[in-house]
Amino acid sequence: MTRTLFVTTALPYANAPFHIGHMMEYIQADIWVRYQRMCGAEVYFVGADDAHGAPIMIAAEKAGLTPQEFVGGIASGRKAYLDGFGISFDNWHSTDSPENTALAQSIYLALKDNGLIDTHVVEQFYDPVKTMFLPDRYIKGECPRCGAADQYGDSCEVCGSVYAPTDLKNPYSALSGAVPELRSSEHFFFRLSDPRCVAFLEEWTQDGRLQPEVANKVKEWFVRDEQGNPGLSDWDISRDAPYFGIEIPGAPGKYFYVWLDAPIGYLASLVNLFAKRGEDVDAFLARPEVEQIHFIGKDIVYFHTLFWPAMLKFSGRKVPDNVFVHGFITVSEEKMSKSRGTGISPLRYLELGLNPDWLRYYIAAKLNSHVEDLDFTPDDFVTRVNADLVGKYVNIASRMAGFLTKRFDGRLAADLGDDGRALLAHLHGRVDTIAELYETREFGKALREVMALADRVNEYVERHKPWELAKAEGGEAELHQACSTGIEGFRVLSVLLAPVVPAVASSVAAFLDVPEFTWQDATRPLGEHVIGHYSHLMQRVDPALMAALFEPAPAAAEEPAEAAQAADAGSDEPPGGEEIGEEITIDDFARVDLRVARIVAAEAVEGAKKLLRLTLDAGEGRTRQVFSGIAATHDPEALVGRLTVLVANLAPRTMRFGVSEGMVLAAAHGDEKTHPGIFLLEPDAGASPGLRVR
Ligand code: MSP
Ligand code: ZN
Repeated sequence: MTRTLFVTTALPYANAPFHIGHMMEYIQADIWVRYQRMCGAEVYFVGADDAHGAPIMIAAEKAGLTPQEFVGGIASGRKAYLDGFGISFDNWHSTDSPENTALAQSIYLALKDNGLIDTHVVEQFYDPVKTMFLPDRYIKGECPRCGAADQYGDSCEVCGSVYAPTDLKNPYSALSGAVPELRSSEHFFFRLSDPRCVAFLEEWTQDGRLQPEVANKVKEWFVRDEQGNPGLSDWDISRDAPYFGIEIPGAPGKYFYVWLDAPIGYLASLVNLFAKRGEDVDAFLARPEVEQIHFIGKDIVYFHTLFWPAMLKFSGRKVPDNVFVHGFITVSEEKMSKSRGTGISPLRYLELGLNPDWLRYYIAAKLNSHVEDLDFTPDDFVTRVNADLVGKYVNIASRMAGFLTKRFDGRLAADLGDDGRALLAHLHGRVDTIAELYETREFGKALREVMALADRVNEYVERHKPWELAKAEGGEAELHQACSTGIEGFRVLSVLLAPVVPAVASSVAAFLDVPEFTWQDATRPLGEHVIGHYSHLMQRVDPALMAALFEPAPAAAEEPAEAAQAADAGSDEPPGGEEIGEEITIDDFARVDLRVARIVAAEAVEGAKKLLRLTLDAGEGRTRQVFSGIAATHDPEALVGRLTVLVANLAPRTMRFGVSEGMVLAAAHGDEKTHPGIFLLEPDAGASPGLRVR
């Protein structure tokens, strides 16, 4: 039976570029989705930006942008990451969209009709210094459940419980540090404590669908506390203006709390996809066989296993079939900081020319079906990729293909001989086990199985020694069998690895001259097929590139390896192709006002192939337009969000396309024809727009 799947990943906050934690979630979901598609499933895999909420509103204000401009800038950077790592989303949308507004309002009204919305006046924290009601995230204090210090106002990162900010002990404003005052305001509540909700959720969360550790965690949330208060308490779903969000129908000045409309964004993205395709989304969601699956991290379980299923259920909608929860990735055992990210940036990884399939393979090798954290360790990365992926797998093809092409015109032997047949029978015998491991998200185990099969293929090759047969008199027939078996074995491994390393799998399909792999291809030998020409499939990881990934100064890391070698060679050429300029005094230099600026938007300029139109934030409370001749080397989308250096006191220049208010700094060789490449300057992570460069 073919399955129909609606699959999502958590919607990332639109306040920062992706970090490796996001990519890990997308890679996990994408592997599962690709596996399902290979099995013939009809999959709708969607994501979106989570655009609303006070933190984004505050960040936009700081950047001197409207919230829409701010999230627009972040959104325009997403594609480079998603395409770069081969994440096969069918759609990417935003919670700040007409679809989401309509859905959120209609779900809310249905819940209201069902008697599940209450209002009451609440005392809410107000920052007397900032003169505004304080968003949950901007109140910190001690967790009311476990007592952990420095927890946010909405949920505890230590024990995972969710509560109201007024429940915190010893609260303070994270915006001003002031002790907040209590002020009254009417709020709207979703009655999660309603017996209908509790009964439904006890069933939905405990019927065996969730991972055991998740179900157990959720069970704790149902338990009454020592005072006898019900475990599930009503959920405050409204916020007062000013707020960046969706207005509550019939309640002027009140907005949905961001976590109400965020998961609804899953549906909004699906609706948007169906609209683009001109298909009927309601008919789709009414199909009983459609399975709705959400991939999320361990920090947002409460929202996805309690609020979200209950919201759907009691607004008369389809409820999720499952929520797959993963742990967190750390880099060299360092926790990811929301503001600083980690030592490695996924985009830098791509810019350095590191192969995206390496990261997919490495992460997959460390993933299982449990909520366990995993660590990215550079040395381990190099070893695993080089030893397994390249050493055991890719090398088989490079050793076999040459003989087949040169000696047999690429034609595979019809008969693989007893040993060849035995090898293939062994491989085929493991296919269902590996399928089950993909299905249950035991990717690490699946890859260990595949590598054990790769060992078998390599043992076969060692036994038959095609390089000796090639020289031996009368070795022709056995050589043909050995190489054909080797290639056939390699093909089976490629099918089994395809969900994890899709780019390599596509190259293999092209080299073998066969269509893109389906799962069934694993057990369907090619027979007397003629393969195409082998071209190199995958490099080994160069540890120097890994080191570059961790270098703090990104500008240096961007220089291509070749250019670096040329510089090392040492020659009579002036440095960088031109002589050092005439001497100046420190005062001369001080006249040039250089500032750190953030690229908030970048686009091609019609009629000027070399130019990009950059919108820069130099911390001035406004943005500047600057034209820069970097179009040949820089993808506008990938620039958005990056910091660079601006000559801030350069006289404005009127160009054909508009006024250029300054200039950004980039390095290039004196002779760009012979030494192409333009390298945009970038300060260390942590710099903020407006800082002077001196
Ligand atoms: N906006 C909310 C989700 C709303 S879903 C309706 C959010 N955004 S987030 O950007 O903070 O996180 C997005 C996803 O990335 C979450 O599933 C989160 O668990 C995951 N991760 C964030 N850091 C991570 C790691 N270090 N490792 C793995 N996943 C991590 O939460
Ligand atoms: Zn706690």
